[in-house]
Amino acid sequence: MSGSKLPIISSERADLLVRQDKELVWHPFTQMREWMQQEPIILVSGQGCWLTDSKGRCYLDGNSSIWTNVHGHNHPRLNDAVRQQLERIAHTSFLGFTNPPAIELASKLVQLLPRHTLRKVFFSDNGSTAVEAAIKMTIQFFQQNGQPEKTGFIAFENAYHGDTLGASSLSGISTFHERFKNHHFSVTRVGSMQQLDSLNPCRIGGLIIEPMIQGAAGMRVWPQGMLKGLREWCDTYNVLLIFDEVMTAFGRTGKMFALEGEGIIPDLLALAKGLTGGYMPLAATLTTDRVFEAFLGSYKELRTFFYGHSYAGNQLGCAVSIANLDVFEEEETLLNLQPKISFFTDRLKDLAQQRFVREIRRCGFIAGIEIGDTDGSPFDWQRQMGSKVCHAARKHGILTRSIRDVIVLMLPLCVQKDEIALGISAISQAIDETCGT
Ligand SMILES: Cc1ncc(COP(=O)(O)O)c(C=O)c1O
Repeated sequence: MSGSKLPIISSERADLLVRQDKELVWHPFTQMREWMQQEPIILVSGQGCWLTDSKGRCYLDGNSSIWTNVHGHNHPRLNDAVRQQLERIAHTSFLGFTNPPAIELASKLVQLLPRHTLRKVFFSDNGSTAVEAAIKMTIQFFQQNGQPEKTGFIAFENAYHGDTLGASSLSGISTFHERFKNHHFSVTRVGSMQQLDSLNPCRIGGLIIEPMIQGAAGMRVWPQGMLKGLREWCDTYNVLLIFDEVMTAFGRTGKMFALEGEGIIPDLLALAKGLTGGYMPLAATLTTDRVFEAFLGSYKELRTFFYGHSYAGNQLGCAVSIANLDVFEEEETLLNLQPKISFFTDRLKDLAQQRFVREIRRCGFIAGIEIGDTDGSPFDWQRQMGSKVCHAARKHGILTRSIRDVIVLMLPLCVQKDEIALGISAISQAIDETCGT
């Protein structure tokens, strides 16, 4: 389904918008000088896995709109959920009040996990704040559990947990985070599970990992058994295990949650991005009764978790998240995904033969295609080859973004096999054209 070929907005209006964008808007993770010199794509509509721009050109949504979209754009069930909620109310405060969609969503999320495990749901509005909440819960938990010295965190090299100062303290990608290091809290950084053995865990409160696969590191897959090992280590030293599933949850790894890959339950679980099916900014930090109960007491004991955001429990976001989860059942999304993953895997094997492809890393329906020179060496990062390939891929009908020289391919779960083939072929052609010149 490639949508309408007709211009969606007039060329005069598109020109005006581009001028105003360049004059007024500052885009995230974007060198704005380069942006000013390019012709931006103005996305105006979408249908299923396809996006349409102001000129009526259609593109496959190759990175699920920065890893958020799940069942496709303009999905009737999700649209209806938003509309119906909108007829009632869009947003009310979650501080001191509650609302039906937030309660129902909490109940649905908890039921997706094994009974009596993660039973408390704390809402916020993006992946960074879901992690931020987990950080503060961990610190306060130990303060209120007689071990206030347990303020330290362990995080992995090249991890990415978000951009707010707390979340970026945990992140280990130097390009993004190095310049802020004097403002970060200190974190014990490890490259592998083996390194944990040489650490003194006395002052460590939390250990955070992107389970199964690190995303922004360039789609790096962890060895099997890692999560089990981490769970054991955390149990031995009374450290809270935090899974950041902001990228991996909601089907991306082939299961609802990446934690199912090894059947390991963390003490804290951060969810965002796909929670709303890619419709709205909403996040949740789930935790156990044990953590939650450490925060109970009379007001004057000051055990309250003094943390929250204005849009916590947003009614529109929660309503569409419920519909997102319902669609998983109604469309048997995970069942139908399995043959697509096999097909995806086979096609990627073909792509791996391409002379400029150094390595393809895949976990479930997530892939990172690393490009480099024909002798197997990496490209000089300053050449921005990954970004150039993504640019070239546009004219072959796919939009995605690279992480340095790793092209991300993370299609919405509703994609069909012919669309997967089209997407991979578009990337292959773009690699050939860009790297071969
Ligand atoms: C694993 C992980 N954690 C946290 C974040 C931050 O999420 P957000 O951009 O919604 O703040 C991201 C974003 O890519 C992520 O991949």
